[in-house]
This record gives sequence, C-alpha cells and structure tokens, in this order.
Amino acid sequence: MLEPQRGEVLVRVRATSLNYRDLLILDGDHFTNGPGSLIPVSDAAGEIAAVGEGVTRFGVGDRVVNTFHANWIGGRLSAGKPCGVRERPGRLARGVPRRLRNALAALPESLTLHGGTPLGPEDVVLTLGTGGVSLFALQLAKAHGARVIASTSSAAKAAKLTGLGADTVIDYVGTPGWGQAVLDATGGRGADRIVEVGGPGTFAQSLVAAGTRYAEIGFVGFVGTGGVPIGFMDLFRSGATVRKTWVGSREDTEDLVWRLAVRPIGPVIDSVHPFGDADAAFRHFAGRGNFGKVVIAAL
Ligand SMILES: NC(=O)c1ccc[n+]([C@@H]2O[C@H](COP(=O)([O-])OP(=O)(O)OC[C@H]3O[C@@H](n4cnc5c(N)ncnc54)[C@H](OP(=O)(O)O)[C@@H]3O)[C@@H](O)[C@H]2O)c1
Repeated sequence: MLEPQRGEVLVRVRATSLNYRDLLILDGDHFTNGPGSLIPVSDAAGEIAAVGEGVTRFGVGDRVVNTFHANWIGGRLSAGKPCGVRERPGRLARGVPRRLRNALAALPESLTLHGGTPLGPEDVVLTLGTGGVSLFALQLAKAHGARVIASTSSAAKAAKLTGLGADTVIDYVGTPGWGQAVLDATGGRGADRIVEVGGPGTFAQSLVAAGTRYAEIGFVGFVGTGGVPIGFMDLFRSGATVRKTWVGSREDTEDLVWRLAVRPIGPVIDSVHPFGDADAAFRHFAGRGNFGKVVIAAL
C-alpha cells in the first residue's frame, strides 16, 4: 500500500462518474486541453485508507469526495491566490487517481443553485436537457420549493423528468422557439433562474425565456450546437443578469454535500459499470442515451 506523506491521506476510490468534459478531453477538443497522456475523469467518491503525519481533518474510514480545484479552499479567486485552477483533473493534472493535499470534502452518510440571489418557492427555474448538471439543478430547485421547467429532446426522458418533479417539460427539438414556450407557460413572466448548459446552441432562446425583468442566467456550459448569434438588442431587451457559474471551492463543495444530506437528495444514477468495463461506460455515455450519471465502480 502507498504510504501517505505528512499532510496527505490515501483514498480508496469506490466510484467515479463521467462528465461532458471527460468526453471533450478524450476527443482532444476541450478548450483548455492539456498536454495529453493524462489519467481521465474528474470526480470520485471513496474512503480514507490511511492518513499521514499531522492530518487532523480526516481519519481512516471517513467517506470523502474530491473537489475539482486542487487548492481552492474558499473565498473568491484572486490573481495572487494559489487555487489549483491550472491543475484541473484530467486536463493539466492527472485525473482523480493522484496525490491531493487539500482537495477533499467529507461525504455524509446519505450521501448550489445559490451564489447569486437566493432561490425560493416563488421562483421558476429553467433547466436545459437531461445532463448531469441539469438533473442536479432540477433536484436542488425542487428541494427549495421552486417551480421547474425542463427541456429535453426525448419523450422517454420527458417522462423521467416529470417523475423527478419537473412541473413543465418542453421538447426543445420539436419546439425550436422554446424560449417563447417558457414565456407562455409562465404567463409572460419568464424564468427567474436559467441553468444555461447549452451555450451557443441555446443562449439566444434562454434570453427569450428570461423575459424582460430580473432573471438570472447561470452560464455553466456549452453542450448545445448550432443556434443563432445573439444580437445587441436581444441582450438589451432582456432584463437578465448573466453570471458565469463554475465548479467552486472546497467550502462550496462542503456546503453542497451537507445540503444534499439534509434534504436528502441522491444523484440520479443511469448505470454502474465495473472498473474493468470503463471503456464500455465511456461508450455508453458518449451515446447520449443516458438519463443520470454513468458511474464506474472501483473494485
Ligand atoms: N462551469 C463549470 O464549472 C461546469 C461544471 C460542470 C459542467 N460544466 C459544463 O456544463 C455542460 C453540461 O455538463 P454535463 O456534464 O451535465 O453534460 P452531459 O451530462 O453530457 O449533458 C448531455 C445532455 O445535454 C443535453 N443537450 C445537448 N444539447 C442540448 C440543447 N441544444 N438543448 C438542451 N439540452 C441539450 C442533452 O439532453 P437530452 O438528452 O435530454 O436532450 C444531453 O443528454 C457542459 O458543457 C460542461 O462542460 C461546466
């Protein structure tokens, strides 16, 4: 067994799950791609197998998840603060099977949409598609009592979205003007919070869905393709605030996992693949038929 050094812990990884960026990195077209020859995947859950000298935060047997940025403990990022943003797993650093000093958060036994204005029961949240980010956003929004409008390209997934609590589901392929459909479903008011994962493929319609008042668009990703360019007047007419949202600090991760424990909310699992079939897990995930997380379980 590896011996953890002073201030280190050894984690026995029990499971990892796949994210869109893992596909982009393997395809070599992630916008922040690294030098190659890196271990893929960026999240993991497991337990502490051994602790090095001086470790006080964790003991053997504690359940933990990794955080995304190696050394971003809390607060806001600033130029002079070492946070490990250049060491994102699977990109410039090796994936989760590697040495981590600060990037662990405790995982409760049962296992934010916050950050801008607080979310409440009076809010309408729009989620796009059924990727990992969107499903978690839906679950968190429902846990806060909000009304959720969700979109998907699949009738089968639409039924599953309803099962998860989505109040309204829109087929974004059959209804290319789905922004107007959101306005119609909300009496013209629009969504208060939009979890924007489509980027160039969806942003113009998200601006329509935001209405003309105080919506907040959390700009998370870019899974969508096609779409139309955004004009100045589209932005001017919208009352939305656009806020770049990205994977947070260790404090953010701890805040999230405790919220999940209190609610409680569990991840939606599509399928679990043994470690020896990791390539099958990647192929399944790349096929885009999954609803929920595609998990690779360790031995
Ligand atoms: N900023 C950050 O820190 C951060 C963190 C995590 C993820 N991200 C980014 O967020 C995005 C989502 O990540 P993910 O892991 O959730 O992705 P994912 O699981 O791979 O999402 C795939 C789903 O996206 C949906 N989709 C594709 N095109 C769409 C479109 N035009 N309109 C609506 N939905 C569409 C599809 O849903 P249906 O099958 O239902 O149609 C598809 O199944 C990615 O760009 C990722 O890089 C960013």
